[in-house]
Amino acid sequence: QQHTQYSGDIASALLAYYDRHARDLPWRSPPGTPPPDSYRVWMSEIMLQQTTVAAVFSYFEKFTERWPDFAALASADDADVMAAWAGLGYYSRVRNLIKCARVVVTEYGGELPETSVELAKLPGIGAYTAAAIAAIAFGERVAVVDANVERVVARLFAIETPLPAAKPEIRVAVNAITPADRPGDFAQAMMDLGASLCSVRNPQCLICPLKMHCAAQKAGFAETLPRKAAK
Ligand code: ADE
Repeated sequence: QQHTQYSGDIASALLAYYDRHARDLPWRSPPGTPPPDSYRVWMSEIMLQQTTVAAVFSYFEKFTERWPDFAALASADDADVMAAWAGLGYYSRVRNLIKCARVVVTEYGGELPETSVELAKLPGIGAYTAAAIAAIAFGERVAVVDANVERVVARLFAIETPLPAAKPEIRVAVNAITPADRPGDFAQAMMDLGASLCSVRNPQCLICPLKMHCAAQKAGFAETLPRKAAK
């Protein structure tokens, strides 16, 4: 991954926003405090892959109470775990969840590896999820880019290249603004901003913590970004 120059003002403004407005979610620790248990971070990121925060809540509580760590989940009956997953959908996720827990126990002594490169080798953990876990649980300075983050960053830098062609450019930009200090809080702050003020149709630019830094807002066309290639 390319390391362009590091731009700290955006991260500072965003982290200050997160300190005040972070969503209180059961898999998070409060802003600026030590990271949550990596098992819980992993579990939440797998559940959130194709499912909304609202739908994940009760499943997350149920799973982490019943199977509080990798050892417990690795020795569970497949049928019990599959049954507990019922309703969340995308069932390849739960098959990989069980597989991953067993690999972590048999090959990693019951703890996740701590880098995005190693995490991405595990069942069910793609590049995005590996980056999210590494940043949130282990403090790795790595770009975490989902669709919400793409939108925030396309607007911040007024990237007019349509998606998907803009993806590499967006990734370079996310990398450039990701801080070495609190990269996990930064990633989750970007997700929260994309899920709230920086919405697709009706961005609330007037009250956005990044208003002063946002090229698209200054040019008055934030709501038109990111552009999408014609189908
Ligand atoms: N979506 C994926 N990961 C998330 C997280 N850690 N917080 C909020 N939304 C998310």
